Amino acid sequence: MRYFSTLIFEKAGKIAYITLNRPNVLNTYNIEMRDELYQVLGAIMEDDELRVVVLKGAGERAFCAGADLSEFLTAPSPTIARQVRWGRDLWGLFLSCPCPIIAALHGYVLGDGIEMALCCDIRIASDEALFGLPELGLGIIPAAGGTQTMPRVVGPAKALEMMCTGNRISAKEAYAIGLVNRVVPSADLNPTVNKIANQISCYDPEVISNIKQAIIRGLDLAITDGLKLERMLAQKSVFI
Ligand code: COA
Repeated sequence: MRYFSTLIFEKAGKIAYITLNRPNVLNTYNIEMRDELYQVLGAIMEDDELRVVVLKGAGERAFCAGADLSEFLTAPSPTIARQVRWGRDLWGLFLSCPCPIIAALHGYVLGDGIEMALCCDIRIASDEALFGLPELGLGIIPAAGGTQTMPRVVGPAKALEMMCTGNRISAKEAYAIGLVNRVVPSADLNPTVNKIANQISCYDPEVISNIKQAIIRGLDLAITDGLKLERMLAQKSVFI
């Protein structure tokens, strides 16, 4: 187990666990967390033993309640506070990580919290989780990838409704729009996530990584190019 200022990083066999660890401020995302996540994901990508990553939040109350607004208030403007965050392509690193990343979501999942979860590959929510994008009320657009990732997951109309009303939705509603894969009772969240992580970790990592690549890269391609990508990755799997 390794403690950072804002995260806990643990390895258990083939599974890496990253815990957002600022429970007193609802695991809000600050620049230090960005840098530490970048460092940890970089190390995970170099680690041949790992097969799957679990991302979760410490404490009872939140996976992540969004950006740390105290940083926004100290920067000359919200726009400058955000430009600082864009200094590293953290979201690109999530998407290019060869291991699937599972988000275990509980409590508040707001703003950057939803957007971080959308950069994960599988989202499991506890039944008391609450989802929302409060950026509109701050006079800014969601920009931790959310305007691009969310429509790809829930479709443009639902993404636009959530972003342009700021309304919060329950775990049940999040499941209904396809934002999360499954909703489970709170007590079952970690066991369910561990079970999925263990299942994935049993398979050939190269094949798993090719599936992830085919799906994620394929989403940005026309179907004909996506099919070519699939064929190329399938042949790669056969000849390994
Ligand atoms: N940035 C910095 N600190 C935050 C925060 C944020 N986004 N959200 C919550 N906190 C802090 C609070 O200041 C409080 O700290 P304190 O105990 O030192 O005063 C602590 O987390 C607990 O939050 P609190 O507001 O007391 O809990 P609550 O149950 O009354 O409300 C929320 C929970 C999530 C509804 C409320 O905190 C909230 O609306 N937060 C802002 C969400 C947001 O706009 N995120 C940014 C999206 S870009």
